[in-house]
Amino acid sequence: MLFLWTLALFAAINTVTSVGATSTPKTYVGYKDDWILLPCVSLEPAASESLNIFWRDKDDKVVLDVINGKTDKIDPFFTNRVVSFPDEYKKGNFSIVIRQLKFLDTGPYDCEVPQMSFQIRLFLRVVDRIPTPCANATKKANATGKPVLAVTEGANGVGRYTQSVTMLSICLAIFFLFYNSSI
Ligand SMILES: *[C@@H]1O[C@H](CO)[C@@H](O)[C@H](O)[C@H]1NC(C)=O
Ligand SMILES: *[C@@H]1O[C@H](CO)[C@@H](O)[C@H](O)[C@H]1NC(C)=O
Ligand SMILES: *[C@@H]1O[C@H](CO)[C@@H](O)[C@H](O)[C@H]1NC(C)=O
Repeated sequence: MLFLWTLALFAAINTVTSVGATSTPKTYVGYKDDWILLPCVSLEPAASESLNIFWRDKDDKVVLDVINGKTDKIDPFFTNRVVSFPDEYKKGNFSIVIRQLKFLDTGPYDCEVPQMSFQIRLFLRVVDRIPTPCANATKKANATGKPVLAVTEGANGVGRYTQSVTMLSICLAIFFLFYNSSI
């Protein structure tokens, strides 16, 4: 029973990942309570220092308003959780970091710079860090002196998630081994 449940869980995770990889807009996957960089980069540098930048979420909440190059407004839902990089604006880099990710942050995000007629949409998905069966499998592997698994931190959320899905597959194999040997 437990084994079937685990299989179903991993099948679900892998399905979700492959859908995310092929759909437009581009999907970024972050972990709950972790942070993620949401890129918004124009090919051309900004013509002016006094840019207006508008970031919006799925509910049209103000993720970030930059007016004349200065942070103007952030919705209370995102207060103290959104960081932008003013030094990067002139290079056409309007990316933000969202910290302390919540499941509710999942959804589409729009980044718009009207003066440059520049607008992009991306999709953020916030997921749990590691399912319990895998954490348990990791502990068991440790106890028997087998190599310890760890989720490595990549350059971005997607990289990390891809790696962790690979890790999850390895975890599943280990979980399976121990499940069988414990019968
Ligand atoms: C944009 O700025 C962020 C923060 O400094 C940085 O991490 C990212 O690599 C930059 N992106 C580009 C394309 O320069
Ligand atoms: C994982 O271990 C915890 C205790 O460390 C236990 O409560 C939980 O039931 C275990 N889960 C599975 C799927 O074995
Ligand atoms: C496994 O053991 C190492 C030390 O040998 C420890 O640092 C690590 O936290 C352990 N991992 C788990 C999941 O117990």
